[in-house]
Amino acid sequence: MSGPPVGKIVGVGRALGNRVVTNDDLARTIDTTDAWIQARTGIRERHFISEGEDCSTLAIEAARNALSHANLSGDEIDLVICATSTGPESMPSVACLVGEAIGAPGIGAMDLAAACAGFSYAASVADAMLRSGPASRVLLIGADAMTTIVDAQDRSTSVLFGDGAGAVVLEKGDGTSGFVDHVLGADGRMAPFGRAGHPGDDHKLYQNGREVFKFAVRVLPEMVEKLVARNGISLEEVQYIIPHQANARIIHAAARKLDVLEGCIVVNVDRFGNTSAASIPISYPDIFDGFEMGRYVVTVGFGFGLTWAANLYKI
Ligand SMILES: CC(C)(COP(=O)(O)OP(=O)(O)OC[C@H]1O[C@@H](n2cnc3c(N)ncnc32)[C@H](O)[C@@H]1OP(=O)(O)O)[C@@H](O)C(=O)NCCC(=O)NCCS
Repeated sequence: MSGPPVGKIVGVGRALGNRVVTNDDLARTIDTTDAWIQARTGIRERHFISEGEDCSTLAIEAARNALSHANLSGDEIDLVICATSTGPESMPSVACLVGEAIGAPGIGAMDLAAACAGFSYAASVADAMLRSGPASRVLLIGADAMTTIVDAQDRSTSVLFGDGAGAVVLEKGDGTSGFVDHVLGADGRMAPFGRAGHPGDDHKLYQNGREVFKFAVRVLPEMVEKLVARNGISLEEVQYIIPHQANARIIHAAARKLDVLEGCIVVNVDRFGNTSAASIPISYPDIFDGFEMGRYVVTVGFGFGLTWAANLYKI
């Protein structure tokens, strides 16, 4: 899909689990060190949910923050899409709970599951809904409470993840700014590289870290190159690349392959860890006010499944 810009971001917000957990905090309960975690992942700290919080409470808080930033009330939204793999229950969807919480019962609401690529997938669906008519203003959320599916004692996974949510309000713009194009992909042959049950299950997250790492280092730059090439723009026109925040080494390897300045690639994994579907929208509040009109933002998600998706956005 490629065409005039449509889904335009008019508000951004985020929410993080209440409890800040440093690497040293983790080293008190599992066999790890701050030095190992920083060297292998770039992560310094992450946020965990605490009593009374779950994926849906984070989604609701991020949604309210994005609405307030857009100066809109819930009843001015007509569709909620929440990318998540860790809703507290299979039913109702997190999006349904958000619709009710923002004072907009009755509007369309659905969750979308594509693991850590979920937000990029959901952005393409939201953009399509705006292009084809069913919605004129969409609340698009990425929310995950990864601590509910990770084995806290498994040091190879528990040090990587954090809990959070990010939200954006999208409007049908005037054709000058908005999402322009999307790439979607998945390959179930690589399902064994990462799987997890639902929150509360005994089936905790398992991953083949090395295989996922190799996949991410390959697919991240490939998607950026594909999007810019097929839309006839150059990397110099891209103000920001927002990659899924899985590991700083993956992000820096991609920056080297793409040969872009490090400042162009957004990195916040040091503060938030891997928040799965939330990691891309969590990034917007730090950069949105500095967006330069006429330039581009590329968002790139990749995750278990394996799944991948990327979006080209004209500012
Ligand atoms: C998980 C990851 C950080 C591991 O880094 P790595 O360099 O591949 O490390 P390895 O798995 O080869 O393990 C190296 C050693 O460190 C150890 N180790 C693993 N986790 C550790 C920890 N938290 N602290 C200290 N040592 C640890 C391993 O047991 C292993 O020890 P051994 O050599 O004695 O067997 C890395 O593979 C990664 O980030 N992969 C991508 C994962 C990802 O992004 N998943 C989400 C996808 S959206």
